[in-house]
Amino acid sequence: MARAKLAVLISGRGSNLQSLIDAAVDAGFPAEVSLVISNRPKAEGLKHATKAGIHQLVIDHKDFQTREDFDDALNDALRATKVDYVCLAGFMRMLTPKFVNDWRGRLINIHPSLLPAFKGLHVHERMIDAGIKIAGCSVHFVSAEVDAGPIIGQAAVPVLPGDDADTLAARILEQEHKLYPACVKLIAENKARLSGAVVPFDSSITAAGALSNPPGV
Ligand code: GAR
Repeated sequence: MARAKLAVLISGRGSNLQSLIDAAVDAGFPAEVSLVISNRPKAEGLKHATKAGIHQLVIDHKDFQTREDFDDALNDALRATKVDYVCLAGFMRMLTPKFVNDWRGRLINIHPSLLPAFKGLHVHERMIDAGIKIAGCSVHFVSAEVDAGPIIGQAAVPVLPGDDADTLAARILEQEHKLYPACVKLIAENKARLSGAVVPFDSSITAAGALSNPPGV
């Protein structure tokens, strides 16, 4: 069966992009990265696309007068490559409700918290400041609000004594790199689908490793 075509949208480092590229090296993985788009010309992550020989585009938001114009340019590029799914991977731009609606059920994001807690920016500092004991990451279908939408999978990690934002971020990132490919696999295999406002729990989600618990919990 043909593999699903992914576009991965980035703004920076691109380590989650790399995790999807790595997963797709396995011919049995049901999706492949067909297009990488960055809204920042100097995004580090573009190097991962270059190295893997993946078609890449810079669509610089500064070149557009309005969010609508920027999103139209994104949409044109995505349609031209006929992608099936759009994966946001550290893409730090708000998308318009029209764009989100056009790609409903096919637009996916990863966020370094157990949503719906800790949406937005400076997540790791805020979690340390709040003194939470369990942190994690979430992959979700995107809805119009930032870092919101039906959750596809989550992975949990402990917050350990002595953690600061950087050590916690590194522990979560390790899980992000497993969770994103696991969730993309479920979506591409049609095992995780939007049903109204939720993605119904499916035992295959645990089997696929998209849910984990910290040791001893
Ligand atoms: C990741 O931690 C991702 O979860 C986060 O940005 C980082 C990007 O890292 N995304 C968000 O905070 C979305 N609100 P990467 O560029 O190395 O993949």
